Amino acid sequence: MEISRHHRLTSSEIHGLAEVLFDCVRGGASVGFMAPFALEQAESFFAKVASDVEAGRRAILVAKDGQGICGTVQLILDLPDNQPHRADLVKMLVHSRARRRGLGEALMRGAENLALDCRRTLLVLDAVTGGDAARLYARLGWTRVGDVPGFALYPDGRFCGTTYFYKDLAQGVSTPE
Ligand SMILES: CC(C)(COP(=O)(O)OP(=O)(O)OC[C@H]1O[C@@H](n2cnc3c(N)ncnc32)[C@H](O)[C@@H]1OP(=O)(O)O)[C@@H](O)C(=O)NCCC(=O)NCCS
Repeated sequence: MEISRHHRLTSSEIHGLAEVLFDCVRGGASVGFMAPFALEQAESFFAKVASDVEAGRRAILVAKDGQGICGTVQLILDLPDNQPHRADLVKMLVHSRARRRGLGEALMRGAENLALDCRRTLLVLDAVTGGDAARLYARLGWTRVGDVPGFALYPDGRFCGTTYFYKDLAQGVSTPE
């Protein structure tokens, strides 16, 4: 398994990232998209991400295994002028074939280091309340701000709550146990 920062995404990488997003949404993850969700929609999303990455508006990590791209996470760097020290962590996605082996944790540690490389010391994210991701962030020392009930929808249309977290990297990044 290899995790690396990409400053530009090839069309085959856009396709591989889209397959990961498609797998996550098909599995019921609430990550911004509704069912029915087509692979083409996932490709359009990552084509836009690719232009943001090239323009420096986002930073992205890509994880690959023997079968290709299996995970990713992004930082949104394009924030208002009064938040130059901050980034939003978004689209933490691990393909179902690669889950529960520590890749999510490795991507989070990588994203924290990526933030420091981008001179961002305060990270904010949100996750489905009580979900797998929220448990991961709490385990890695992220501070839980609070819950917003009924904030978003699952792909099948049910409401889900959102929990906001932040991490002040001036207090240290997550390290392996
Ligand atoms: C949330 C998500 C990113 C986690 O990815 P992951 O690679 O499975 O994460 P990890 O492997 O680091 O940790 C997951 C669990 O596996 C466990 N684990 C890690 N390595 C393990 C191993 N070698 N053997 C057994 N269990 C292991 C962890 O302890 C953790 O346990 P928990 O569920 O009890 O907390 C993934 O489930 C996902 O992509 N979900 C869909 C998209 C989504 O919801 N993204 C979040 C948006 S906010």
